[in-house]
Amino acid sequence: RTIGLLFGGCSGEHEVSIASARAIAQALSAGSNAAVYTLLPFYIQKNGQWCDSAIAQQVLTSGQPLSSDLASSDPVDRWRLPPTAGDVDVWFPVLHGPNGEDGTIQGLLTLMQTPFVGSGILGSAIGMDKLAMKTMFAQAGLPQVNYMAVSRSQVWSNPCIYPKLCDDIEAQLAYPCFVKPANLGSSVGISKVRSRAELEAALDSAASYDRRLIVEAGVVAREVECAVLGNEQPQASIVGEITYQSDFYDYETKYTEGKADLIIPAALPEAVTAQIQTMAIQAFTAIDAAGLARVDFFYIEATGDVFINEINTMPGFTVTSMYPRLWGASGITFPELVDRLVQLALD
Ligand code: ADP
Ligand code: DAL
Ligand code: MG
Repeated sequence: RTIGLLFGGCSGEHEVSIASARAIAQALSAGSNAAVYTLLPFYIQKNGQWCDSAIAQQVLTSGQPLSSDLASSDPVDRWRLPPTAGDVDVWFPVLHGPNGEDGTIQGLLTLMQTPFVGSGILGSAIGMDKLAMKTMFAQAGLPQVNYMAVSRSQVWSNPCIYPKLCDDIEAQLAYPCFVKPANLGSSVGISKVRSRAELEAALDSAASYDRRLIVEAGVVAREVECAVLGNEQPQASIVGEITYQSDFYDYETKYTEGKADLIIPAALPEAVTAQIQTMAIQAFTAIDAAGLARVDFFYIEATGDVFINEINTMPGFTVTSMYPRLWGASGITFPELVDRLVQLALD
C-alpha cells in the first residue's frame, strides 16, 4: 500500500510536524512495514504551498523547513495536489495545529474519498478548539477548571467593555490565570498572568492569534497524559507524567532537549490511574475522535482531584514524544503503532 505522509503545514507547529513526520517515515520503512508500505511524502510549506515528494523527501532528510518560499501567486495552484497524490491508498496527515489538525485537511481528504489516519472532520475540529472541546467535555460530565470564553472583539474593539471584562475575569477566576488562543497548540500564544497589567498584555497577545480566546483559573497540579488508540472500541495506554522546572509547560520547555522529563509510568495511586484512563476514553468518545489521541490532565495531589485539560487529535509523534512512548511502555513498538494506525484508517 502507498502511504501519503502529509506534513509541515500552515501553522505555528510546522517544525514539530516535520519532526513527527521524520519518525513516522522511518517507522514505515522499518521491519515488516517495509514489505507492506510504500512511502510517498508530501510537504506543505508554511505559506500553504503543497510540494511534491522530491521536495518533501529533501525536507524529511534535512529535518529543516524549506528556506525559500516557493509560493505560487495563484491561490488555487497553491494547494493543488501534486499529481502523484492519486497514487495514495491511505493518507497519514501528521499535521499539528490549525490547517491540519482542525478538520480542514480532513475535509479535503474526505472529499478525495481516500482513507486517512486519525479523527474525521468533526473530531478534529472540536479537538482543536478549546472552547468547543470544553463544551463537549462538560456535556460528558468530565471535571474541568473554571474558565471564561472571550472574543477578540471584546479585547480589541470596545474600550468600554474591556475594563469590565478584566474585572469579570479577576472576580470569576482570580490570579494566576491562563490566557489562551482557543485554536492553537504547543503552548503558542499562551500566558500565565498574575496581575491586571499582565492580563491586558496576555489578552492582547492571544487575540493576535485567534478570534476565540479562553481564560482559565490556574491550578497547581501534576501534569499527566494518557494515550488512546482505536475507533469504536478505543483503548487507553498506561499514564505518563511530565515534569519540568519552568513556570509552566511552555513552547521552550516542550521542545528544548532536557527541559522536561517524561516519567512513564507516572507514580500515581492505582485508582487515580484507572480514573484517568476511563476519562481519557470518555473524552475521546465525547469529541468523536478516531484512530489516536492524547488526553492531558491536571492531577491535584492534595485533594485527589483530576481535571481534564485537553485532547490532542494529532499528538507530537517523534520517537521521544509522549504518545508513542506511552504505547511503547504498554507493549506496542513504534513501527507496530504506525501499522496499527494505518489499519484503523482502513477499518
Ligand atoms: P496547548 O494546547 O498549547 O498544549 P494547554 O492548554 O495544554 O495548551 O496549556 C499549555 C500548558 O500551560 C499546560 O501544559 C500547563 O503547563 C499550562 N496550563 C494551561 N492551563 C493551565 C491551568 N488552567 N492551570 C495550570 N496550568 C495550566
Ligand atoms: N500539539 C503538540 C504537537 C502535542 O500536543 O503534542
Ligand atoms: Mg497541552
